[in-house]
Amino acid sequence: MSGSARRLVVLAVVVALVAGCRRKPAREWRADDHDEEPSAPAPGPGAAPGAAAAAGGGNPDDLVDATWTSKCAECHGVSGQGNGPKAAMTKPPNLADPALLGSRTDEQLANTIRTGKGKMPAFGTLPPSVIAGLIRRIRTLGGE
Ligand code: HEC
Repeated sequence: MSGSARRLVVLAVVVALVAGCRRKPAREWRADDHDEEPSAPAPGPGAAPGAAAAAGGGNPDDLVDATWTSKCAECHGVSGQGNGPKAAMTKPPNLADPALLGSRTDEQLANTIRTGKGKMPAFGTLPPSVIAGLIRRIRTLGGE
């Protein structure tokens, strides 16, 4: 019994020492290093299209391009061929294929973008003007 009691005391001392050691460098770190932490919040990924529109003087094509790059290209690829970084998981179609686009009206494409389809998420919060711009952009991919 006395053996395990002593072990407990030793353990308590060790814990106290470790806790004491931790506290001291923490205080010194705060004084010296904390200033180096960047305090300006980086703009979130969702802010990109709005920021691009503001920076580009509100050119609607810039907003469409920024939206395509930030929200669509990860699956569809920059030129819509279905080769973005997430394409292996989601298997998007080749949007540059005239056979696919030729069989869809603008309204059908707009509905797919707004409500999603299969593994494609819904983008119902995009303004109608941006959705229309995305469709124009997609239709140029296949040389239409
Ligand atoms: C997470 C991956 C992913 C993202 C992000 C994504 N898509 Fe898709 N998209 C898909 C997949 C998968 C399909 C095929 C859906 C199906 O037919 O089941 C598809 C299909 C489409 C189609 C063809 C629809 C049809 O009529 O068959 C269009 C157009 C399209 N996407 C546009 C967009 C646009 C514009 C964006 C960005 C706002 C976007 N996608 C973002 C995965 C994605």
